[in-house]
Amino acid sequence: MNIILLGPPGAGKGTQAKRLEESRGLVQLSTGDMLRAEVQSGSPLGKEAKAVMEAGQLVSDELVIGIIANRIDQPDCKNGFILDGFPRTVAQAEALDAMLSDKGMQLHAVIEMEVDDAALTERITGRYTCAKCGQGYHDSFQKPAKEGICDKCGSTEFKRRADDNAETVTSRLAAYHDQTAPILPYYRDKGMLKKVDGMAEIDEVTRQIEAALG
Ligand code: AP5
Ligand code: MG
Repeated sequence: MNIILLGPPGAGKGTQAKRLEESRGLVQLSTGDMLRAEVQSGSPLGKEAKAVMEAGQLVSDELVIGIIANRIDQPDCKNGFILDGFPRTVAQAEALDAMLSDKGMQLHAVIEMEVDDAALTERITGRYTCAKCGQGYHDSFQKPAKEGICDKCGSTEFKRRADDNAETVTSRLAAYHDQTAPILPYYRDKGMLKKVDGMAEIDEVTRQIEAALG
């Protein structure tokens, strides 16, 4: 099964993608995580993306389409994948369709996670992740069972993203409404769009996604 998790910054795409990896054996393909890894490594691609990401804008379609085209050719994608943060423009959605049909792959569902803009800033500014395994946490909504220790891998090192500040969130939300929301009708017209209430608690959102996927 190949699915898209679609929603604004902080909607919970990464949180739910990790759960779907465990429950369904799918692999999470987060263009944001891939770009951050490029920035971290100091590659030419990372150098190109860094300033754009820190300004809360979208990197070029060409760049992310290239990244995804390479990634879905990897053997671990054969059993199905969750696209998290891609596509983000109509051009990316069209490129994905072309890519999947070339490879004889199919898209099964597009899950739209609806969340009020007001809730997103609080979610994003309180977010942090385990520096070792990437497990996501939140200062108020998702604390580790033992403070300062990752539930999943036991690490005591955590990190916060460079673009997780109130100022950049405003640009990221604007990019979502202007450039990404127009892909909703694209998938609605294909009969693939399923909505879940992203304002609900994390476990409830998981239940709604599992129900939508059947
Ligand atoms: P990306 O990494 O994709 O960031 P984003 O879309 O802004 O989304 P986030 O990762 O911030 O949020 P999320 O939905 O994953 O939420 P999470 O689960 O962490 O992209 C970053 C940048 O890369 C972009 O700005 C752009 O520059 C570039 N980029 C990436 N892809 C691109 C593309 N395709 N084209 C062009 N540029 C691209 O949850 C957030 C917090 O809330 C967490 O702390 C979590 O614990 C908490 N939380 C989650 N669910 C709930 C809930 N139900 N209730 C309460 N709290 C919750
Ligand atoms: Mg994410």
